[in-house]
Amino acid sequence: MKIRAVYPGTFDPVTNGHLDLIQRSAALFDHVIAAILKNTEKKPMFTLNERVEMLESVVRTLKNVSVATFDGLLVDFAQKQGASIIVRGIRAVSDYEYELQMALMNRRLSSRVETVFLMPAEAYSYLSSRLVKEICMLGGSVEGLVPTLVEKRLKQKQMLQKQES
Ligand code: PNS
Repeated sequence: MKIRAVYPGTFDPVTNGHLDLIQRSAALFDHVIAAILKNTEKKPMFTLNERVEMLESVVRTLKNVSVATFDGLLVDFAQKQGASIIVRGIRAVSDYEYELQMALMNRRLSSRVETVFLMPAEAYSYLSSRLVKEICMLGGSVEGLVPTLVEKRLKQKQMLQKQES
């Protein structure tokens, strides 16, 4: 039986931590769908199209990974995609409570979809999209924390912000 997994998130923007988890998932499962939530309560810095483009570009070399967008319940999307696994990353103990709540709620919504937690490489255990955006907007370096393309896009956003202020 081929196992398909969904790795959902906001990916605003995709970081090397996300990429690390996608690579680990791709080694474990037959197919991985990196799925970007369309309508998030968080106000994303990057448009949906920009997030899709960046994510597609960084997973291009991974043959069993595809990128999709979704709306509505994650478990419904997973089932429509024929996926039985949801992958989520746990960086530190602080992630656990929220992730456990989501995993148990998702299990309640559908017992056919199992959540699997993976840990990123230690070097990315303190990395988040929120911090990356904040650092870049304040003129700090995010080299090594995000793929080169994302670094360029962040710098463009910073330049735009500078011009507007
Ligand atoms: O990268 P994020 O912001 O931590 O990802 C959160 C995400 C997309 C996994 C979560 O918000 C989600 O699954 N949203 C879809 C709506 C849904 O299914 N809600 C019930 C979850 S218990």
